[in-house]
Amino acid sequence: MNLAVIGTGYVGLVTGACLADVGNRVTCVDRDPAKLATLQAGRIPIHEPGLDAVVARNVAAERLSFTDDLTAAVRHADLVFIAVGTPPREDGSADLAHVLAAARAIAQAVERDLVVVVKSTVPVGTCDKVRDTIRAELRARGLDVRVAVASNPEFLKEGNAVDDFQRPDRIVIGTDDDQALRLLRALYAPYNRNRDRLIDMDVRSSEFTKYASNAMLATRISFMNELAQLAEKLGADIEQVRHGTGADPRIGPHFIYAGAGYGGSCFPKDVQALTHMADEQGLEAPLLRSVQAVNTRQKRVLFDKVSGFLRDRLAGSTIALWGLAFKPNTDDVREAPALELVRALLAAGAKVRAYDPVAAENARKEIDSPDLEIVERAHDACVGADVLVVITEWREFKSPDFRWLASTLRQPAVFDGRNLYDPEFVESCGLRYFGIGRRPANAAASVAR
Ligand SMILES: NC(=O)c1ccc[n+]([C@@H]2O[C@H](COP(=O)([O-])OP(=O)(O)OC[C@H]3O[C@@H](n4cnc5c(N)ncnc54)[C@H](O)[C@@H]3O)[C@@H](O)[C@H]2O)c1
Repeated sequence: MNLAVIGTGYVGLVTGACLADVGNRVTCVDRDPAKLATLQAGRIPIHEPGLDAVVARNVAAERLSFTDDLTAAVRHADLVFIAVGTPPREDGSADLAHVLAAARAIAQAVERDLVVVVKSTVPVGTCDKVRDTIRAELRARGLDVRVAVASNPEFLKEGNAVDDFQRPDRIVIGTDDDQALRLLRALYAPYNRNRDRLIDMDVRSSEFTKYASNAMLATRISFMNELAQLAEKLGADIEQVRHGTGADPRIGPHFIYAGAGYGGSCFPKDVQALTHMADEQGLEAPLLRSVQAVNTRQKRVLFDKVSGFLRDRLAGSTIALWGLAFKPNTDDVREAPALELVRALLAAGAKVRAYDPVAAENARKEIDSPDLEIVERAHDACVGADVLVVITEWREFKSPDFRWLASTLRQPAVFDGRNLYDPEFVESCGLRYFGIGRRPANAAASVAR
């Protein structure tokens, strides 16, 4: 098929490249000249494992191209994806300006029947708005073509996006148009061979499914984070509790890790947007509000632990920080707990020496302070630092040389924001250990003497 993908970010670029990889001809459209220049020069503007190879081979095969010419891209397309951003507005609602601008531009360009697929995460009812926008524009042009609008939310995870796209656990399509459904079934057939992963439903349910999924995942995280705080007070270890709880198949082991709070470009904004949808309907959403409140509190936990340990030595100290991205294998720092921690530490008069394998440049764009030094190696962050905080679970942080850390850090302590380490082992190496909801290494034994 001939496809156009509007918006060449994490979702649009992966979608375009992967759909080209199975034989479609894809034109990716973006209005950001810097991004386009990077892509046209054969480089990838984001860090996403495996994506560079997929893009390179499809550009070479002339199945994938990049342009700012939306009109030409749409005129050649059987199917157009909208994959632009839907950032949060001040009141928490999703900003649909980019989606509706794309819809208008499509309607101004189209010359024959077309299916428009909304891949961006959009509030329930947005596809109807897209349809109405297109309809109004076609009427104004006096053009009699059939443009169907379908919802097809994206469930890929940054850091594993190519694999997620190529091996999806589900493909959700929301449409009441048989022709659109047939076309999308055909498009996704290569990913749907060994079992049917395509779930078709009505448009509104499809839009809602994306929010329901992210809200559920965020809820599990906040639930465990709330329990982690209680576990600490009660002398229980949330890691052991996690194992014991996740063994129940009704609960399962995924997404029940306590940590430094969720971040990223999706969970915070999507839970907010869902809460806003409830508000608009006059419905209270106490659970969704609590999920956010717990997360806001959790993002502060590491700062409280560090300042509780260093007390009046915090101002003027140097904190080594491992990880800036909101999670491993991505350079995305949107809403990253690490950035919030850096800001709090700087505000308290500390200096931060941070390391992240790929997110340094993006972090630097967010926080420009002489007191934030971003170094090239994990090791360099620790030399001359007082304590170490680990906040993103990159693989290279999983087994550090604790004895070296104990001899290097000036006030040897490790703050483990992802519960990566064994508290007893870390302490046996001569460091103080602070995790999230962990039982202290020297907790009382259960034998009465
Ligand atoms: N990032 C994720 O992991 C993820 C996962 C699933 C769903 N989503 C959803 O997908 C959507 C896109 O997310 P993203 O992370 O890829 O965003 P992004 O910010 O990385 O990319 C959006 C791109 O759209 C471009 N754009 C905006 N308006 C445009 C227009 N009118 N014409 C052409 N280009 C335009 C921007 O320049 C930018 O390159 C959002 O709704 C998001 O919630 C994201």
